Amino acid sequence: MSSTDVLREVQHIPIEGRSPLRFYDYAPDTGSFAEDARAGLSAVPKTLPAKYFYDARGSALFDDICRVPAYYPTRTELEIMQVHAGDMALAVGAEVLVVEYGSGSSLKTTRLLDALANPAAYVPVDISREHLLNAARRLARAYPSLPVLPVCADYTAPFNVPEVPAKRCVAYYPGSTIGNFEPASAKAFLREMRAVVGQHGAALIGVDLQKDPAVLQAAYDDEAGVTAAFNKNILHRMARELGAAVNPEAFTHEARYNAEEGRMEMHLVSDEAQTIQIGEEAFALAAGESIHTENSYKYTLQGFAALAGEAGWTVADVWTDEQAYFSVQYLT
Ligand code: AVJ
Repeated sequence: MSSTDVLREVQHIPIEGRSPLRFYDYAPDTGSFAEDARAGLSAVPKTLPAKYFYDARGSALFDDICRVPAYYPTRTELEIMQVHAGDMALAVGAEVLVVEYGSGSSLKTTRLLDALANPAAYVPVDISREHLLNAARRLARAYPSLPVLPVCADYTAPFNVPEVPAKRCVAYYPGSTIGNFEPASAKAFLREMRAVVGQHGAALIGVDLQKDPAVLQAAYDDEAGVTAAFNKNILHRMARELGAAVNPEAFTHEARYNAEEGRMEMHLVSDEAQTIQIGEEAFALAAGESIHTENSYKYTLQGFAALAGEAGWTVADVWTDEQAYFSVQYLT
């Protein structure tokens, strides 16, 4: 089945005290950790896809990162939502259908929904059925009269939004997760987003901004070691899920600012010559060799406007915090 097939309404999920959730399932391909790990460890230089950070333990560690004082993105974006959600609501207008890309950010979502005039419906889209339904249930309880229509899909591939009468469709993509994409992929993704929201659609996107590299360094290599634990979890996961023979403690977490590319990188650097064994295959690492696990692109306002423009969008408004650490961009 391709994800552009007609949506299948799988089930009604009962919720006490309100109408049930209508749950739509595209049965997305969640990828193969085994295959991707083998391919990444065979590549030169070695890589592992960042999407595999988020098993149950990784998601919990990411929640911990969001509470680390040096990790400015979460609290800064929340503050922007707190101060400017009213302006955002005025910009998007009344009776809009909100399509959230990902479903992990209920606090930010709540700020937006509280400000919106008469929202038509809320459609969270997530590849993880469990996260999706937990978040959707929570939100549905908090907004008893708001239609909530969770869609289980890979939002980087085309998907259809459930048909709901609304004045316009607005994509909400907080968290600067767009920073995980290479700029060319980010552009293609933004273009897809335009197709998803349709002709009069709009988007509100959280975008992390360029700043003093020392601030970035502190955010991605926090003193308490939470980010290090998050990064190493991908190796623990390899041991747990793939039965890999790997010693995560023989790796050092490194956050590097790549000025040329304008991005933060996370690496796992091998402390010594060692091997990672997955099934029959052994992957040798030299002392000091790195496995590149994540890119987190930081944009300038001009840079993001250019990227959005190339994807067919216009930046109609931008809200930032006082230090201009983070931005929420309104695209039409
Ligand atoms: C969830 C991708 C936005 O890039 O800041 C946090 C993930 N990595 N600390 C980010 C992350 C290291 C985060 N995103």
